[in-house]
Amino acid sequence: MGRLIIVSNRTPGKGPAAGGLAVALRKVLTEHEGFWFGWSGKLVEKPEPEAVFEDIEGLNVGKIDLTQHDHHAYYAGFSNSILWPSFHLRLDLATIEGHWYEGYRRVNAQFARALKPHIQADDVIWVHDYHLIPLATELRNLGARNRMGFYLHIPFPTVDALYAIPHHNELMRDLSRYDLVGMQAERDVTAFRDFADHQAPATLSGSPLRTVDFSNTEVKAFPIGSDPDAFAKLATTPAATKMVKRMQRLLEEQALILGVDRLDYSKGLPQRVEAYEKLLANNANFRRQVHLLQVAPPSRDSIKEYQETSDTLDAMVGRVMGHFAEPDWQPLTYVKRAYGQPSLAGLYRLARVGLVTPLRDGMNLVAHEFVACQDPEDPGVLVLSRFAGAAEIFEDALLVNPFDTDETAEALRLALQMPLDERRTRWETLMQAAKTHSVDNWAKHFLEQLTPADGGNKRPPVR
Ligand code: F6P
Repeated sequence: MGRLIIVSNRTPGKGPAAGGLAVALRKVLTEHEGFWFGWSGKLVEKPEPEAVFEDIEGLNVGKIDLTQHDHHAYYAGFSNSILWPSFHLRLDLATIEGHWYEGYRRVNAQFARALKPHIQADDVIWVHDYHLIPLATELRNLGARNRMGFYLHIPFPTVDALYAIPHHNELMRDLSRYDLVGMQAERDVTAFRDFADHQAPATLSGSPLRTVDFSNTEVKAFPIGSDPDAFAKLATTPAATKMVKRMQRLLEEQALILGVDRLDYSKGLPQRVEAYEKLLANNANFRRQVHLLQVAPPSRDSIKEYQETSDTLDAMVGRVMGHFAEPDWQPLTYVKRAYGQPSLAGLYRLARVGLVTPLRDGMNLVAHEFVACQDPEDPGVLVLSRFAGAAEIFEDALLVNPFDTDETAEALRLALQMPLDERRTRWETLMQAAKTHSVDNWAKHFLEQLTPADGGNKRPPVR
């Protein structure tokens, strides 16, 4: 394999996209002398056409600036107000403004123009996530014949939700320009095949749309993971235990239920608080015995639907506090800010229950990190949404339907009362799965598939 080029919207060191993924890909990039390419995080009036490369902690990173206007249409608009809600089956929260599509394509074309001069003939290109679906088309239009892979970090939508997306057929054709398309879960591959098998619905004028030819594109599930060994180590470092000791003093004997999520409507946070409310309402014996800590750093807060989720949650937390809190006991703590990995690792280890209940999620790495950080002698219990990709590999978690808050409340009760033997047996299986599906294995398997021994096809440029 030649050099590896990773392309993503955010580059390492900039915001929440850094973390496990950046660490894992850094290793692969160093082995293959490649570089990372993406948006600089800067909005300017007139972006330079050429990318600027810089060394970020030993990693070669190429970046481009965007205009405010294009960034809005590409990121807040088409990516996060159309693709994100539709792919998460929340069409009720989508804002269908077709003109954002032009900005989305303009930015993808701008990425391609700035990247193309840096591509060598045998480089392998790995593009990440829904912001950059058209990048292969744009690069092939400029003559790139390299092997190109695409990885979707979020779920793939059902056919009906896909049809609600303006220009969905072009997007599917864009995916067919990649040699390999990786998904998080088998469920996503099935949804993709469903489109591929049943495409070509009639248009308004009655003529069928041209079908997309996927014969040169392999589509497969590559469930992403964390670095479980690194997290296990981190959970017992002084940086992690500092936070744990302070919390232990505050909690005294109370069992900690922990949620850690970006403040996003896909994470099911209002449903989670409602389930906790039901637990306290139906089991008076748990009051003063349990405490919910919900960590929820704000995300994409320029988008109305995110502000509304935040307001809903504020009101619900206030309601639960007003109803159940006593002068000397608080049922929950809600913090709207991000914490570093050492503090989170300590909290995961301290928690009796990891509450991971998204309404729909690509994978959910919090589930992986929670498992990795447990004390093998006295592990906590994972309560996991069956609609997270993680449910396909963590079958020994307590799987719940997050829309059914009675069921989640019952799972919480079971988790809190689970005997040590059962906790250990379940955790051992979960930890084994976390190790099998480590982020290192994920990157290795994807790249092995993208770069077959015979070099794979060289694609002709797109007409
Ligand atoms: O899970 C999808 C994703 O886009 C990740 O790639 C990213 O870390 C996260 O959501 C945060 O999104 P944003 O880059 O919009 O802050």
